Parts: sequence; structure tokens; C-alpha cells
Amino acid sequence: MNASTPSPAQNQASTATLYGGVANRRVTVRDLAAAKQRGEKWSMLTAYDALTAGVFDEAGIPVLLVGDSAGNCHLGYETTVPVTMDQMVMLSAAVVRGTKRAMIVADLPFGSYQESPAQAMHNAARLMKEAGVGAVKLEGGERSARSIELLVEAGVPVMAHIGLTPQSVHALGGYPVQGRGDEAAHQLLRDAKAVQQAGAFAVVLEAVPAELAAQATEQLAIPTVGIGGGPDTDAQVLVWTDMAGMTAGRVPKFVKQYADLRTVLGDAARAYAEDVRTGAFPAAEHSFH
Ligand code: KIV
Repeated sequence: MNASTPSPAQNQASTATLYGGVANRRVTVRDLAAAKQRGEKWSMLTAYDALTAGVFDEAGIPVLLVGDSAGNCHLGYETTVPVTMDQMVMLSAAVVRGTKRAMIVADLPFGSYQESPAQAMHNAARLMKEAGVGAVKLEGGERSARSIELLVEAGVPVMAHIGLTPQSVHALGGYPVQGRGDEAAHQLLRDAKAVQQAGAFAVVLEAVPAELAAQATEQLAIPTVGIGGGPDTDAQVLVWTDMAGMTAGRVPKFVKQYADLRTVLGDAARAYAEDVRTGAFPAAEHSFH
């Protein structure tokens, strides 16, 4: 077996389930295609650092997205728009280092692919070579099809993202639900088919009516990944800080909070500060003699 020959583990088209099945290597696009075939639903979470990504990897989340939501969920910006390629490379490399099993998908941020397919290729290559991700994600349906085609031809697995595309927040005037009404619904289905035709291995459907997401899922051979797309998509994605209750203030209607980490962490910080103030910390067992 030479360096370019896949190992038997890499070569296995996974017939095992994503949960508990793929354990000795990273999840691949073939595993996700097989999951759609057998009707197994899967989850994706965002991650922006090695520590948190490691927790999700150990929990068996098969796909982690280094989303440009890092802008508003991790880096303190109001939107995803200011996020740069250098930031995405740094965050993605950390997530890759912190994980062993999940497929790592990284977002191409605003301004890093819209100029031309060549620009998309240049920046996708940076994410793959400098950060080591397994796939990239970009926003747009028909308008991004040429770039997707070029990336896929060059060997870059691409996850598409249609419906509500947060990088267009200023053009959209906020984050409105997409695909409502006949014309918008038809456009969403055209976008979904365009990215599949261009070679995307999966497509995120964000903030679209559940019935429309179900229709797209039925019509596509590639997996659909819903966020605010109802229960019938092949997979679901949530921003981890929303899912775990780290986000301050209101979260979108489509979020389910599975923990209240903001309270847990705040309470821990307050207890630590109080112990330091009263002299209860450090105690003898925390001291060297
Ligand atoms: O950046 C991100 O977190 C995303 C998800 C919302 C799909 O694109």
C-alpha cells in the first residue's frame, strides 16, 4: 500500500450507523450519503475552539461546522460579515486539532468567494491546507453554483447553504424567514437543485417553512441539513452556544436549549470570586509546601 492508497478503514463505504458506527477514522461524505440512503438522521453543531470541539467529538456528533457564526457567537461582532479568512483558518485549525472522528466543515466567510470561482478555490485551499478541514461551506444557490462546480472538480467537498443566508443580513434587512409564497418557494427549490447539480454533498436549509424543507429533502438525493427548517430534513444543525444556553438574551424560535451553561459558568465564577474574597480559596489541599 503506497501513500496514496486509502487504508481499509478509509475505504470502507460505511454501512454502520453514524452514531456508534464510525469510530476509527473521520466521518466522510460517503458516510453521509449512506446515512441518507438508510434514512438515518444526523446532527451537526458549530464549534470554534479545540476544547469544545473535543467535547462534541467525544459525544459522537458526526459533523462539526466551524461556522462564520464565530463572528457573533465567539468573536464579539454583531454579524458574520466582518469575519476574515485568517480568523477562519485559525479557528478551524483549532477545531481540527481538538477532534479525531467528526468531519470538520469550515465556512468560507463573506468576501472570500463571491468575486469568482478562482477566489473561492484559493480560499477553500487555504482552509484545507492550513487548517486541515475536510470540507467547506458557502452561501448561495444558483448564484454560487459555478464556484461549487469548480471546487468539487478540484476535489473540495462542498456543503451549500440556502434559504436564509446570514452573510446577506444587510441586503435582507435582518434575518427573515425565506421561501414563503409560491415564487420564493420555487426559487428555493431551484437553488437546492442547482447546488446538488453543481456537486455539493449536502445543503443547509436555514429558516424556511417546514413543508418546503420537507419538499426539498424529498426531491434531493443529497442530505439536507435544517436550521429552522422543521423536522423532516435529513440532518439538523444548531449553533452550539444557542444549544447549550451560553448565548445572552433572546435566541431564535428554532433553537432548543439543552443546557443552561451561562448560568452554570456565571455561578462558578461568582463562587470562585467569593472564595477568594473570604480566603476560603486556596485551601491547604491547593497549596505546595
Ligand atoms: O455559521 C453558521 O453557524 C452557520 C449555521 C447557522 C448553519 O452557517
